[in-house]
Amino acid sequence: MTPKILVTSAAGKTGMSTALQLLEKDYPVRALVRGKDARSRLLHKAGAEVVVGDLHDIDSLREAFSGCQRAYWCAPVEAHPLHKMSLFAIAAAEAKVEHIVHLSQWLSASSHPSVATREVWMMDKILDWIPGATITINNTGWFADNYALVMLPMAQLGMMPMPLGDGRNAPPSNEDIAAVNVGALISPEDHAGQTYRPTGPALLTPQEIADAFGRALGRTVRYDNASMKMFLKALAAQKRPEFAQSQLAHYVVDYQQDAFARGAPTDVVERVGGRQPQTIDEIARHYVQTDPDARQTLINKVRALSLLSKIFVATPLDREKFAQSREFPMSRTPTYAAKDDVWLETHQENGERNSANVTVINAAE
Ligand SMILES: NC(=O)c1ccc[n+]([C@@H]2O[C@H](COP(=O)([O-])OP(=O)(O)OC[C@H]3O[C@@H](n4cnc5c(N)ncnc54)[C@H](OP(=O)(O)O)[C@@H]3O)[C@@H](O)[C@H]2O)c1
Repeated sequence: MTPKILVTSAAGKTGMSTALQLLEKDYPVRALVRGKDARSRLLHKAGAEVVVGDLHDIDSLREAFSGCQRAYWCAPVEAHPLHKMSLFAIAAAEAKVEHIVHLSQWLSASSHPSVATREVWMMDKILDWIPGATITINNTGWFADNYALVMLPMAQLGMMPMPLGDGRNAPPSNEDIAAVNVGALISPEDHAGQTYRPTGPALLTPQEIADAFGRALGRTVRYDNASMKMFLKALAAQKRPEFAQSQLAHYVVDYQQDAFARGAPTDVVERVGGRQPQTIDEIARHYVQTDPDARQTLINKVRALSLLSKIFVATPLDREKFAQSREFPMSRTPTYAAKDDVWLETHQENGERNSANVTVINAAE
C-alpha cells in the first residue's frame, strides 16, 4: 500500500512544494493548513486531502494524522515552536507513524543565542524518541527565498538592502529543499537517521546574488550592507511578528560570520532530491516573473519610496526588552555558530552534520 503522508505548514514555502512534489509522484497527501484560501484551494486541486487546523490543538493534529504513515514536520517561525512540536509528536506516536522528516536549521545548536534555534535543536533530539518512528533531518541554511523579501527596493530602486556583511551563502530554492524532503519521505529505508543540508550549486557573495536579481530584472542592483538597526526598523515597518523579528536578527549575525559558507555547496539536492539544484539566476528569474513587486511601474516606485520613508521613522524592536517581557529561556553560554566549538566540530566542511551527532534510538520495526 502506498503510504499516506502528512505535510504540516502545507501552505508555507517548503510545505507547499513538498506536498505538490509528493502528489506529482502519486503519493496520497494530507495537507494541514491554518485556513482556507487560494493556497489551500491549490493543494485541493492538486489532489491533497486538506485539513484546516491549528498546530496548537491536539484534536487538529489527531485528525491530520489519522490514516497517515509518514509526516513532514515544519515549525512556523512563531512563538511556542516546542509547544506545537510536542503536540505533533504526541499525535505522531498515537498514529504509529513510521517516518518523519524534520525541517531543522543548519545553525541548530544547544547554545545558539536564538531561542527558536535552540528549540529546533531540541526538536532534532525529541522527534527521534517517537516509538517506532525513524527521522531524517533536513538542516538547510539560509533560503534563497529570503532575498526576494527585498524585491521592491531591488526592482524599483536598484538596491538590495540586507545586513549580510561579506558573508557567503549557497542559497537553496524552496523547491530544492522540498525535493530533499520528498526523497527522504518516499524512501525512509535509505534516509532514516540521516541529516542532510541542501544548498544551491554555488557559494556566492551578497553582491553576486544582487547581480543575479539585477540580470533577471534587467537593471543594476547594488548590494547595500544595511546596519542591524535599519534591518530591525525594516522588519518593524513591515509589521513582521515580533517573535520573528527577535530571531531573524540573530541569523544575520551568523550570516556575517560566514556560518552559511561552511561546507557549502553540497550535492544533497542531486543525491537525495534526484534533481540538479537551481542556480541563483534560475531562482531570481522565477521571483521576478511571479512577484508583482518586480514590475517596474510608477505605482511600485512610489510604494518603494513610501516603504523607505516608513523604515526611517519606524522604531526598531528592543530585543532585550522583548525577550525579558516574554520570559524567554536563556542560554548560559550564548554562542553564534561560527564561534561555537561544538557546532564547528559537528558541522563538517563537507556540509553534512557529523552523523555521530544523530542517534537513531527507534529504528523502524
Ligand atoms: N527561512 C530560512 O532561511 C530558514 C532557514 C533554515 C530553516 N528554516 C526553517 O524553516 C521553517 C519554516 O519553513 P517555511 O518557510 O517553509 O514555513 P512558512 O512558509 O513560514 O510556513 C509556515 C506555515 O505554517 C502556518 N502556521 C503558522 N502557525 C500555525 C498554526 N498555529 N497552526 C497551523 N498552521 C500554522 C502558516 O500559515 P499562514 O500562511 O496561514 O500564516 C504558514 O503557512 C522554520 O522552522 C525555520 O526554522 C528557515
